[in-house]
Amino acid sequence: MGIETEKQSKEFIKLMSYYKCAMMEIETKFNVLNVEYSLVHDRNPISSIKTRLKKPQSIREKLERKGLEVSVANMEKSLADIAGIRVICSFPEDVYTLAGALLQQDDVRLITMKDYIAKPKLNGYRSLHMIVEIPIFLAQQKKMMKVEIQLRTIAMDFWASLEHQLCYKQDNEFTKQMADELFECARISAELDFRMDELRKNVQKQNAEKGKRG
Ligand code: GTP
Ligand code: MG
Repeated sequence: MGIETEKQSKEFIKLMSYYKCAMMEIETKFNVLNVEYSLVHDRNPISSIKTRLKKPQSIREKLERKGLEVSVANMEKSLADIAGIRVICSFPEDVYTLAGALLQQDDVRLITMKDYIAKPKLNGYRSLHMIVEIPIFLAQQKKMMKVEIQLRTIAMDFWASLEHQLCYKQDNEFTKQMADELFECARISAELDFRMDELRKNVQKQNAEKGKRG
């Protein structure tokens, strides 16, 4: 970090630890929702959860890109993705169920939401993005911290992970044909999600009818 003085560097370590706490809070909230849901519905809406803290180098680069001085104050003020959590869900419906259940909680404040599932990016990327703010409780104070949440299905994660490997921050130009092919893969993955969701609904319906018959 370009936060050279010892005082600044201590402040940096402290702030990063606050982000880590906020990230852990959100992760726990999702784990609790997963447990509750699986008791009621007999299946897990969450397939896996990944968390990450932005690396000092990336923090510096992003602040510089924004034309801002690299400082602890600017990190907190201008970056919303220092703490990031990715929740990989089983079905598309689970993405919205979990997002809704989280946002209902009275200590969670929604800052922004981008629904790239309803409106995918031009390259085909799909996911539900939210920036939320939650309090962490320290010995002497309560501090509001921002966390970036990405919710997506296994199929969306499959596509995004491979696309990231192929394109992200790489210099080699993608030809129009390559981009078209990648988009087609995104379309197929969206169709897979849709078909699996239909299958889920049918299985659920059948189970409900069986239940009624005794
Ligand atoms: P950043 O400044 O890069 O954080 O993006 P942004 O402020 O425009 O936010 P957005 O919500 O659009 O994207 C944030 C994050 O979503 C990225 O850091 C990636 O993790 C993920 N993401 C967004 N677009 C893509 C994409 O096209 N492909 C992949 N693989 N991931 C993406
Ligand atoms: Mg980011």
